[in-house]
Amino acid sequence: MTKTALITGITGQDGAYLAEFLIKKGYIVHGMKRRSSLINTDRVDHLYQDPHVEKRNFILHYGDLSDSMNVTRIIQECQPDEIYNLGAMSHVKVSFDVPEYTANTDGIGILRILESIRLLGMVERARIYQASTSELYGLVSEIPQNERTPFYPRSPYACAKLYAYWITVNYRESYGLHASNGILFNHESPIRGETFVSRKITRALARIVLGMQDVLYMGNLSSKRDWGHAKDYVKAMYMILQQEKPDDYVIATGITTEVREFIYKAFSMVGIDLEFTGKEENERGYVAKINDDDFVNSVGAEYLGNFSSRISINPVVVEIDPAYYRPTEVDILLGDPAKAREKLGWIPEYDLHGLITDMVFSDLQLMKKEKYLRKGGYLTLNYFE
Ligand code: NAP
Ligand code: GDD
Repeated sequence: MTKTALITGITGQDGAYLAEFLIKKGYIVHGMKRRSSLINTDRVDHLYQDPHVEKRNFILHYGDLSDSMNVTRIIQECQPDEIYNLGAMSHVKVSFDVPEYTANTDGIGILRILESIRLLGMVERARIYQASTSELYGLVSEIPQNERTPFYPRSPYACAKLYAYWITVNYRESYGLHASNGILFNHESPIRGETFVSRKITRALARIVLGMQDVLYMGNLSSKRDWGHAKDYVKAMYMILQQEKPDDYVIATGITTEVREFIYKAFSMVGIDLEFTGKEENERGYVAKINDDDFVNSVGAEYLGNFSSRISINPVVVEIDPAYYRPTEVDILLGDPAKAREKLGWIPEYDLHGLITDMVFSDLQLMKKEKYLRKGGYLTLNYFE
């Protein structure tokens, strides 16, 4: 029997990887996409099928998690066996600017899905995945964090996700819905949004070595995150919904790394040794050494001369801009994925080195293309904050 899945947030990082993964498994995938003034389906364009094709396995519907009737109608039309609720205003810093919108989408969005399932009489049929987050742990009460660690949210985003977590548990306990939370720690990829820290770093690194940017301006370099690869994490989402009983799972690598260290590792991929000096707002990262062979092999011989001469004048490539600080910060996240390993058999394929390699080389390729287009006189987009 062909299974049908509905993914909210299909145009996002996880939505795109999950759609690809489920289509490979033989699913028919429906996705909710928002209307935007520019087409925003870049991440899923390779899955797109012309609406005139018969028997499509990838179908998009206009929708928004803040619109109850729209959510109900889409679920009624698709009759999904599995619903993955990935749609969210997912940027923690931005949630301080748009707290009410974040609460509506990230908090109440899942309630609209859960209630629709009840109203449509689909309790026995549909399984539901809620994209919960390690941000729930916030001001952490223990290290590492597992499924029993208390929550202490530190942003409007995390507060909204706290409601979503508990309403999912409540509908499971009240009405017997197969509804589960994946408490996912940070996961990144070459298609990560440009303003999350990992992608901001790998994009800036590529631009700096190619001579398109001088300095990377950062916020808090001392916070620590448990970073994994999104490709591994969407597999966990699927595995959670294949379990006979619904439950909640921490998905993490079990290793935590400072933002500063992430920057250091990314630059070392292209043969650049960084050193950091100074404290807080006066901290700077500068190029201490260029390993010419590694630079040539990874970036290209034609860029070495220009980069070396720029660095000899001013070696500083990382500076602090307090505008990127958050009103309340989450200092450290480190997940204990023991339950997922034992019950789901989930084991990630990528480690941090593999993740950073994937991102750095993808962004190098992307920026070389941009540089080439600019040289040819074509307009390219910036994607700055
Ligand atoms: P993302 O790249 O920011 O994607 C978010 C998706 O949600 C996009 O498709 C976005 O549409 C959509 N969306 C935003 N507001 C919406 C609304 N009002 N109605 C319907 N859709 C809406 O996020 P991600 O990294 O893929 O994360 C997926 C989910 O996992 C999110 O819920 C996030 O909070 C959660 N999560 C992520 C991580 C992580 O490290 N990536 C960790 C834990 C939990 P547009 O493309 O139109 O903006
Ligand atoms: N974005 C960003 N930009 N973060 C910076 C910067 C900067 O210039 N400088 C330092 N940071 C720090 C942040 O203060 C934070 O401590 C850390 O880098 C990670 O920031 P993000 O990459 O924006 O991710 P996040 O941890 O806040 O949230 C992500 O992971 C959550 C799971 O733990 C998002 O994907 C959330 O949606 C997700 O729930």
